[in-house]
Amino acid sequence: MTRKILVLPGDGIGPEITAQAGRVLAACQARGLDIEVEEAPVGGAAYDAEGHPLPDVTLAKARAADAVLLGAVGGPKWDKLEDIAKRPEKGLLGLRKELGLFGNLRPALLYPQLAEASTLKPEVVSGLDIMIVRELTGGIYFGQPRGIEERDGQRVGYNTYVYSEAEIERIGRVAFEMARKRGGKLCSVDKANVLEVTMLWREVMERLAAEYPDVELSHMYVDNAAMQLVRAPKQFDVVVTGNMFGDILSDAAAMLTGSIGMLPSASLNESGQGMYEPCHGSAPDIAGQNVANPLATILSVAMMLRYSLGEAELAERIEAAVGRVLDDGLRTADIASEGCRTVSTTEMGDAVLAAFEAL
Ligand code: NAD
Ligand code: IPM
Ligand code: MN
Repeated sequence: MTRKILVLPGDGIGPEITAQAGRVLAACQARGLDIEVEEAPVGGAAYDAEGHPLPDVTLAKARAADAVLLGAVGGPKWDKLEDIAKRPEKGLLGLRKELGLFGNLRPALLYPQLAEASTLKPEVVSGLDIMIVRELTGGIYFGQPRGIEERDGQRVGYNTYVYSEAEIERIGRVAFEMARKRGGKLCSVDKANVLEVTMLWREVMERLAAEYPDVELSHMYVDNAAMQLVRAPKQFDVVVTGNMFGDILSDAAAMLTGSIGMLPSASLNESGQGMYEPCHGSAPDIAGQNVANPLATILSVAMMLRYSLGEAELAERIEAAVGRVLDDGLRTADIASEGCRTVSTTEMGDAVLAAFEAL
């Protein structure tokens, strides 16, 4: 059966990095992977072309796809848009919500070749392998009421941090299952010393723990978790947390792997349909220069093969190809190091493809 893949390049470096990931998908196709690949606009590019960051046609194609690959959205050009609903980021949030992609997996894995690229000491990060499980369709990102309004003669802005037990339970299950398949350790990150919503979060995680006696559950406040991530990151196996804390902690974890340009992600719904994207943004400061690191997006294709297409072998082949290229001393500017060759986005794509074919 032919599987449908929708590619949404988006803005900034989005088109540059998805182009390289698209070449890897094509190489898989040439090896017999039965897929049909289509592209559609999203984000600022879609706003410019069609007046909306998530056009109906794009959403319909995403719904019909077995998996979606997204580059990145947003940029200074659209930051001042009066109509908040038309901001590029709303296109991405709309996709996540409409497709019910509540389970966001962000693996912070250090390729041993990049131990020197991290800003942390090599001994602190070597062997690092953390899976951050971030809730993606709830929490303060989506809570109602929200807005900016006039109160007592001045404007106030407000958002609502809300989670239902059912929402907590389903992301909890994703995390417990993940911990069970990995090192058996789960750390739930919250702010239960202050926020009721996360008191409930902690309670639900505790309740679930009884069903997973093989998983060791611990709890940590988010401020301490941020500190521990840079102090001794290898203490973590699986981390589960809400939408906003997960956003922040995963960017911090990215730097442990050498660069934000290395961190892929999978966002899954209840039926296993997924959207795959690098954790980084549209990097306006380097867009259009052919210098962005495409590896997070290429590794997101590997996650797509593993989690949505049931093609673990092809996924491993891509990951091994990335390892081979790093072994060969090729680095984009963000992970550049002495004695290595700094290459462009397209050269990195060429090298991964060559290694993929040669393996
Ligand atoms: P960013 O992740 O785009 O960039 C932060 C820094 O990391 C920049 O210096 C950038 O050059 C660098 N960087 C990011 N990806 C890189 C890569 N692949 N290779 C090399 N360097 C890379 O974050 P930001 O600057 O805070 O946000 C820029 C725009 O992106 C904003 O509009 C924001 O809303 C949007 N954004 C989108 C997503 C997404 O689409 N998933 C994620 C985060 C931010
Ligand atoms: C991410 C991004 C998004 C988020 C933005 C662009 C809406 O930062 O995917 O990490 O906050 O989830
Ligand atoms: Mn983010």
